[in-house]
Amino acid sequence: MTAPRHILITGASSGIGAALARHYAHAGARLSLGGRDARRLQEVAADCRARGADAEIAALDVTDPTAMRNWILAADAQAPLDLVIANAGIGSSDESEAEARQAFAVNLDGVLNAAFPAIDVMSGRARGQLALMSSLAGYRGFPEAPSYSASKAAVKALAEAWRGALAARGIRVSAICPGFVATPLTSRHRFPMPFLMSAERAAGIIARGLERDRSRIAFPWPMALATWFIAALPAALSDRLLRPRPPTRR
Ligand SMILES: NC(=O)c1ccc[n+]([C@@H]2O[C@H](COP(=O)([O-])OP(=O)(O)OC[C@H]3O[C@@H](n4cnc5c(N)ncnc54)[C@H](OP(=O)(O)O)[C@@H]3O)[C@@H](O)[C@H]2O)c1
Repeated sequence: MTAPRHILITGASSGIGAALARHYAHAGARLSLGGRDARRLQEVAADCRARGADAEIAALDVTDPTAMRNWILAADAQAPLDLVIANAGIGSSDESEAEARQAFAVNLDGVLNAAFPAIDVMSGRARGQLALMSSLAGYRGFPEAPSYSASKAAVKALAEAWRGALAARGIRVSAICPGFVATPLTSRHRFPMPFLMSAERAAGIIARGLERDRSRIAFPWPMALATWFIAALPAALSDRLLRPRPPTRR
């Protein structure tokens, strides 16, 4: 498979998205980088240019379908998009109604807002690749993060279904399901994060999986196996295993 030349990444101003941008940055590559924070995006774009790539930024919110469509169509008009990575996402903490709705707006609607314009332009030439950012947290509803795991489950199912549905249009689709990656998103976690890895390492694994056109890029494998196993257990058992423990008194 030839290396993608024009790559569009949402959530490229930080964490895994920024690491992916730097990973793909080399002479001959073109990067279209999205996020809300223009200053952080500029820093990532400058790194990418220093590595020889062309890089353009778009400061926009993935929950705005019109802005997303305009950006993606304009990027594609400059050079056909080979790979679109719908990566932008947020966690949740207090699980208020407002927070849960925002998690779905960014993690699910944001993916749809990136994917539909990409599908439109890629269908026209029967060629392209879509990578949708899910999570191992999408394998099962996790009581500690209801809206996060539910939104990621939806993205995983969407990627799996689109992979079959869009194959006839020449579009390859992958679900990306990382375990714990050291980024601003996980820096506020106050619980153990087994097999925590750097964003750079995660970006390398994701890019390798995409190059091989893997349906599901789930890593690290011990976490992927453990999460798969928990999801396969009878619900009564996994419910008990995952039930949040009351805080210990000191
Ligand atoms: N870190 C992990 O352990 C882990 C594990 C599994 C899956 N993931 C997924 O990986 C993706 C990247 O997360 P990360 O860990 O790299 O977190 P991060 O460092 O917090 O990066 C999140 C990115 O998403 C962007 N973003 C958030 N809300 C946005 C919005 N409304 N519009 C546009 N961009 C928005 C942020 O950009 P601005 O701040 O500039 O808006 C930032 O670039 C997420 O989908 C996350 O769920 C992460």
